[in-house]
Amino acid sequence: MSASLRFGLALFVAGLLAASAALSLAQWQREARARTMAEAATGGHVDAGKVLIGRYGCGACHEIPSVLAASGRVGPSLEGFAGRAEIAGLLPNDPAELDLWLRKPQSVKPGNGMPNQGISETDARDIAAYLLTLN
Ligand code: HEC
Repeated sequence: MSASLRFGLALFVAGLLAASAALSLAQWQREARARTMAEAATGGHVDAGKVLIGRYGCGACHEIPSVLAASGRVGPSLEGFAGRAEIAGLLPNDPAELDLWLRKPQSVKPGNGMPNQGISETDARDIAAYLLTLN
């Protein structure tokens, strides 16, 4: 390989690395912004919400791509939930309504497939914060 070809190749690889670093930085900034907004809107903690989702076993009924082993098919997938207009086709998707849905789905829509699970207000806030980061 000639020296100039090697130099060209090195430049090309450096360009690729710089581009991928810029992309991951943009991705990281987007995620950080989504977290801040979700925590401000709900008063909950995103990381705690993710842990609680595992503890309450939501993944038995819901697919949640970012939660390991959450691959249930009883309820709708929660992928992209933050971008949805409605909760269960009934409530507007805002933090107060989400809190209500998480704590009392059977009062909102009697007989639907999601049971009341006795979720506390604090837990519901954390879970809502996490769900609202799912873009
Ligand atoms: C036994 C199954 C079951 C469990 C456990 C369950 N869900 Fe659900 N969930 C459902 C079903 C079924 C629906 C659809 C209700 C409807 O639209 O009639 C639903 C709907 C939802 C919705 C509304 C989704 C949308 O796009 O409209 C959210 C959000 C949700 N569940 C979150 C959770 C969370 C968080 C947990 C754990 C704390 C959980 N669910 C536990 C069955 C379940």
